[in-house]
Amino acid sequence: MKRSTGGVAVEGRHIIKNFRIGNTPTKVLKDISLQVMQGEFVSIMGPSGSGKSTLLYILGGLDTPTSGHVLLNGTDISGFGDEKMSRIRRQKIGFVFQFYNLIPNLNVEENIMLPLLLDGKKMGGYQKQLEQILEIVGLSDRRRHTPRELSGG
Ligand SMILES: Nc1ncnc2c1ncn2[C@@H]1O[C@H](COP(=O)(O)OP(=O)(O)OP(=O)(O)O)[C@@H](O)[C@H]1O
Ligand SMILES: [Mg+2]
Repeated sequence: MKRSTGGVAVEGRHIIKNFRIGNTPTKVLKDISLQVMQGEFVSIMGPSGSGKSTLLYILGGLDTPTSGHVLLNGTDISGFGDEKMSRIRRQKIGFVFQFYNLIPNLNVEENIMLPLLLDGKKMGGYQKQLEQILEIVGLSDRRRHTPRELSGG
C-alpha cells in the first residue's frame, strides 16, 4: 500500500542480523535494503520466524544489526550510543505494540503524551496534535479513560 508525500523517512542498507544460540549461529536477516517514504504505509509479511520483528526492532532503534546501516530522515543511527538512541526513540519513533504496552494508571491522553512528558515537554503546547491523534484513533470521547476501561482493540 503506497501513499507517498515526501522524502525517505526510514532506510535500511544491507542489514544483516545473526543470532547465536549456544554454538549454533542463525542468519536471520541476510542483506536487507529498503526505503520507506514519508506518509507511506508498508506491511512486512512472511512466515513465523522469518525475521519480521527482528527487522522492525532494528529499523526502530530497539536493536542493532550485526552489520549494515539504518537511516532516519537521512541520519545514520548505526553508531549511536544508548543516550542518543533513547532520545531518538522518544522524539522520532512510535511503536504500537500487539500487547498494548500502555501504562495502566495513566489515562488515554497521558499515554499518548508520555514520550513528550519524558522528554521534559509540557502537555499544554501540544493540544492541537493531541486532538488530531485522538481523532485518528477514535478515542476523543474517551480521553480520560484508563487502558483497563477500554476495549482491547
Ligand atoms: N534474541 C534472540 N536470540 C536468538 N534468536 C532469536 C532472537 N530473536 C529472534 N531470534 C530468532 O530469529 C528468527 C526470527 O525471529 P522473529 O521474531 O524476527 O520472527 P518473526 O518473523 O517476527 O516471527 P513471528 O511471525 O512468529 O512473529 C527466529 O528464528 C528466532 O528464533
Ligand atoms: Mg514477530
